[in-house]
Amino acid sequence: MNDIKVIANIGAGTMGHATAMQFAMKGYQVNLLDMSQAALKHGLELIDHDLDTFEQNGIIKGNQKADILARIVPTTDYSDALTEADFVIESIVEDLKVKQTVWQKAEHYLSDQTIMATNTSGLSPTAIQDGLKHPENFVVAHFWNPAQLMPLVEVVPGERTAEDTVKTTVSLMNHIGKHAVALKKEALGFVGNRLQLAVLREAFKIINDGIASPAAVDDIVKYSLGRRWSLLGPIASADLGGLDVFKNISTYLYDDLANNTGTDPVLKKMVDQGDLGVKSGKGFYDWEGDNGKEAI
Ligand code: NAI
Repeated sequence: MNDIKVIANIGAGTMGHATAMQFAMKGYQVNLLDMSQAALKHGLELIDHDLDTFEQNGIIKGNQKADILARIVPTTDYSDALTEADFVIESIVEDLKVKQTVWQKAEHYLSDQTIMATNTSGLSPTAIQDGLKHPENFVVAHFWNPAQLMPLVEVVPGERTAEDTVKTTVSLMNHIGKHAVALKKEALGFVGNRLQLAVLREAFKIINDGIASPAAVDDIVKYSLGRRWSLLGPIASADLGGLDVFKNISTYLYDDLANNTGTDPVLKKMVDQGDLGVKSGKGFYDWEGDNGKEAI
């Protein structure tokens, strides 16, 4: 971990600009690689904007903004970005073929020890590392959006990832102020998205069956599970409640819970009618006229 001095950050979009900024805030030189000058300019503008917000809130002061920006070196050249890198984090388009191609090209410029981390939302690290010369150096470091604010990074090994690669990645993530959690092995959606989608599948069924409104579902979670889980997590909460109690509840409830497979029918209906949430102005809530009022 102490040997890591230079970070190469591939992709300067929503996730990539935020990871680059955080490494630079911790003092690392960050070589920011993207496909075009326009993409780099956009990424640097996002960073500039985020640093302004941090400054306004007293998180950074004085010359810190200028110092952080000076540590970020934008480039479209693989050799410039990668040759000196000790750790690479990649946040490019979520497409297995594109990620495989970019990593195989990138590895050509890296040392035999450089750790290669992808910020995929859920693609298989085994499928990406299989085409590499040093699959043992490859791992997932899955940040949560917005990565400049959310603490969690899921560190996920592929079948051929070395234990040291996981350990070093966890240490590095913790060092830049994240809370890294390593999984024992890969799984579709890793852990965070499996849990999130399990809860959402049931929440959408509750709304669709007319049991409660979207705002009621949100309130119920915010004022009960949300608080308990943010302190303890669901598993320690179950221990606290008593496993005999949860066993009884599971016995009468499991058969009644949402168990649909494939695309969620509620989400399909919403998306088909153009209701995408904040980005289209309307989802379960109205985000335009009456900001935040239930729309359905
Ligand atoms: P984005 O579209 O905002 O940014 C992607 C960037 O990668 C763009 O700047 C693009 O020019 C660049 N890029 C694309 N192909 C490239 C290539 N071949 N070489 C160099 N640069 C290339 O995408 P976003 O949202 O930042 O997602 C990136 C990755 O992070 C994806 O794998 C995504 O699944 C993952 N992710 C996204 C989250 C989100 O909420 N947006 C959350 C966690 C992970």
